[in-house]
Amino acid sequence: MATTTSTAVRVLGAVALLSQHAAAGLYPGLTTDNHTCSLQKPVLSCSAEAQPGLVDTCCVETFGGLVLSTQFWDTYTGREADGQLLPKDTWTLHGLWPDFCNGSYTQYCDLSRQYDPIPSPNTTTGTPAGKPVVPWTGPSIGTFLEPFGKWDLLAYMNKFWVAQNQDNGGFWGHEFSKHATCFSSFDVECYGPQYVEHEEVVDFFETALAYYDVLPTWGWLSAAGIRPSNASFYSLADVQAALTAGFGKLPYVGCSGPAYNTTAAGKGSADAGKTVLTEVWYYHHAFGRVQRGQAERVHANITGGSVSSCAKTPGALRYYERTPGSDVAV
Ligand SMILES: *[C@@H]1O[C@H](CO)[C@@H](O)[C@H](O)[C@H]1NC(C)=O
Ligand SMILES: *[C@@H]1O[C@H](CO)[C@@H](O)[C@H](O)[C@H]1NC(C)=O
Ligand SMILES: *[C@@H]1O[C@H](CO)[C@@H](O)[C@H](O)[C@H]1NC(C)=O
Ligand SMILES: *[C@@H]1O[C@H](CO)[C@@H](O)[C@H](O)[C@H]1NC(C)=O
Ligand SMILES: *[C@@H]1O[C@H](CO)[C@@H](O)[C@H](O)[C@H]1NC(C)=O
Ligand SMILES: *[C@@H]1O[C@H](CO)[C@@H](O)[C@H](O)[C@H]1NC(C)=O
Repeated sequence: MATTTSTAVRVLGAVALLSQHAAAGLYPGLTTDNHTCSLQKPVLSCSAEAQPGLVDTCCVETFGGLVLSTQFWDTYTGREADGQLLPKDTWTLHGLWPDFCNGSYTQYCDLSRQYDPIPSPNTTTGTPAGKPVVPWTGPSIGTFLEPFGKWDLLAYMNKFWVAQNQDNGGFWGHEFSKHATCFSSFDVECYGPQYVEHEEVVDFFETALAYYDVLPTWGWLSAAGIRPSNASFYSLADVQAALTAGFGKLPYVGCSGPAYNTTAAGKGSADAGKTVLTEVWYYHHAFGRVQRGQAERVHANITGGSVSSCAKTPGALRYYERTPGSDVAV
């Protein structure tokens, strides 16, 4: 399913760390006092100083310091009949993910904030040895915004944070519980003694959108003449050049669909990369808490990993047009 994040470049690791403290709080002993981040130096995540013990983990991202802002190009939602449509000429938000500084990652870090109706994987490690992630059966996480009066945020999310084959709220719950609970700066203790339940959920959604809003993938590709076309073929190198020109660093480019050498055009080739452009992941280190939205952009291969799952053969890629009726002008 399109909402999973199991691409091989990110290696699952270090889940043992979490077993110390299954309830809220990634670090034992964290209290609600003294997290006025505006008084503190916005240390860059993954720098030598960004360590628990040296900084306030609420004010500097010390757990998931390699911050990925990820987007999808879907051609349909599967829920058009319910009015769940894609924004025209716009890639949609997938999520904001906290990878470890070495490129591995963990997930579902606080099971007391499990709001994902379809946990994927269904244990914290993805193996039977992990803790079960029990499906959320309560109200959609979207309803958490209502007591805060954030109707504008909810409307914006329904436009740009759109799920495939799932309702949007279920997908947002997945993104929050699987990923946001693994950022030190979204720990509930960080919100002080007057914390209002779900405050950090609202904050996470706003932060994810703030990162997304400055990453116009459709426009960057379009500026290089790369636009959805069911009649055209594109080259990975051109996609990478266009996105690097826009972002300033090389993002990860993800493809799905058939491997090139299983297609008619690629028969006999050794290029087993996928041929349908579907994802882009933009990598950052964050200055101070992730909520500040200020970050240094970095190459997707900063930890030495792969930068694409797509076929490299020139002219191997499809960038499909949306299915008629699946998108709407925004
Ligand atoms: C990556 O970093 C995490 C968190 O510091 C650590 O637990 C894990 O062992 C590291 N993985 C590798 C392969 O070095
Ligand atoms: C932090 O808060 C505690 C109260 O919990 C207070 O005693 C302490 O002095 C504060 N520390 C700083 C650095 O302000
Ligand atoms: C997770 O899914 C697998 C495969 O469907 C299933 O065998 C297993 O029982 C599930 N585990 C939990 C904890 O739900
Ligand atoms: C496609 O390429 C991969 C890697 O070179 C190779 O292992 C595989 O056998 C090829 N498949 C086909 C159908 O040619
Ligand atoms: C990562 O990719 C960039 C841009 O293509 C390249 O200049 C750099 O050498 C690569 N770095 C690593 C560690 O592979
Ligand atoms: C373009 O092709 C994709 C993939 O086959 C299909 O889902 C989509 O409906 C097509 N769009 C148009 C406008 O033909």
